[in-house]
Amino acid sequence: MADTTAAATYGSYLKIDELLSLQQPRSEGPEHDELLFIIIHQVYELWFKELLHEFDRVSRVLTGDEPHRAQHTLKRILTILKVMVAQLDILETMTPLEFLSFRARLEAASGFQSDQFRQIEFVLGAKSETAIARFPEASRAREALVRRHQAPTLWDAFLHYLSREGYPVPAAQLSRNVTAQAEPSPDIQTILIDVYRSDPKNAELCERLVDLDEGLQEWRYRHVKMVERTIGMKRGTGGSSGAAYLATTVGRPLFPDLWEIRGHL
Ligand code: HEM
Repeated sequence: MADTTAAATYGSYLKIDELLSLQQPRSEGPEHDELLFIIIHQVYELWFKELLHEFDRVSRVLTGDEPHRAQHTLKRILTILKVMVAQLDILETMTPLEFLSFRARLEAASGFQSDQFRQIEFVLGAKSETAIARFPEASRAREALVRRHQAPTLWDAFLHYLSREGYPVPAAQLSRNVTAQAEPSPDIQTILIDVYRSDPKNAELCERLVDLDEGLQEWRYRHVKMVERTIGMKRGTGGSSGAAYLATTVGRPLFPDLWEIRGHL
């Protein structure tokens, strides 16, 4: 029986043995760069897990009318996003030929199949039933995605918060179908203009949401550039057209109302 009385150590608390056993290259040799490729993706998945944890907190504290805590958590999220963008520099030290030395061994594996990335998109409002259908029924990934799909988004939590702050958020917005992508709304834009002009506390919160939107777009832009420099216009292992598909996802805002109003301030 395991000794449950022993004091935790660095190794036991962080499960270092398990962690270090999880990097398993598939290439013969194995090829030198495959370890970096595996580690960087695993690190991203850990950051995705942490981001989801923090997004849940932002929604929770907004629902509890604690805007300062929401600001604080958003600041942490933005710092993580900066690190995530910077990490792409490491992978860009891998040349096209170094990647080709093991690319075939990835078979159909692709970041396209990261359910946590899709969960992040769902939390931030980019909902898609097609994305759910790509994951096997009853899998952990599918169940997590279905849960996120049915839950209100961060933007929904923000609109409910604004309503409790006294802003005239239309009832239709507050009771909208949260499984659908939120549409830009002239009524919300009028409210946001008011917030920016006369409510510094909530205007700051809006600015952090714009930072978040821009931060994710920055990751998408850097990822597509990295893809272009590594595989050019080849198709992706996940079955898409590759860089051409990824380019269509760059520049699509998460919170369109916050971008729309900027020209009217
Ligand atoms: C040499 C490095 C990389 C290459 C060549 C690459 C290539 C691609 C390609 C071609 C796609 C489009 C889907 C497909 O058909 O496969 C894609 C999607 C994706 N990749 Fe990468 N990728 C790389 C590194 C990474 C890293 C480090 C991450 C971090 C997790 C990542 C996350 C994603 C995600 C989340 C998507 C889905 C994006 C979307 O659908 O909007 N990729 N990647």
